[in-house]
Amino acid sequence: MTFNRAPIVLPILILAAACSRDDKEARRRAAGPSPSPAALAAVASASAGQALFARCAACHPVRAGAPDRNGPNLHGVMGQRIAQNSARFGYTAALQRVGGRWTPARMDAWLTDPQRFAPGTSMGFPGLADPLDRADVIAYLKVQR
Ligand code: HEC
Repeated sequence: MTFNRAPIVLPILILAAACSRDDKEARRRAAGPSPSPAALAAVASASAGQALFARCAACHPVRAGAPDRNGPNLHGVMGQRIAQNSARFGYTAALQRVGGRWTPARMDAWLTDPQRFAPGTSMGFPGLADPLDRADVIAYLKVQR
């Protein structure tokens, strides 16, 4: 006897997707209209950030000691000196000349528009348009310590 699982599995998948979207919209509402970075950080989700990190993972490992790829290893990058998280990676002068450390505000600016933050950077990534997505990714990067 054959048993077709699709009619059961499909609604479950749709429900799961709807739930995570609702959670995101609930978090967005909780942060209020035109939320401050602090308000976004308060509702940010490291697990949502981990899912979003799929967009970064082709270029960036985060596991401690993992070799760099197209981009440097990001383990422990929050609070680290800019363009120095991986001792072996060949950073551009564009990113090196920024100076200072990765604060949440600077990471937010970088992830909004890498080329604007460090004109000439080799990070071939257009940026994350949604402030809550950026706050989620930053929350994830923080727990990679
Ligand atoms: C197509 C490859 C690619 C993608 C996708 C990408 N990056 Fe990068 N990233 C790079 C490269 C290359 C650099 C080095 C840039 C330079 O030296 O100018 C970099 C640098 C960085 C740095 C600076 C590290 C340090 O040591 O200061 C951070 C932080 C970073 N990326 C975060 C992210 C995040 C978060 C995402 C996903 C939202 C992402 N990147 C997506 C390639 C990528």
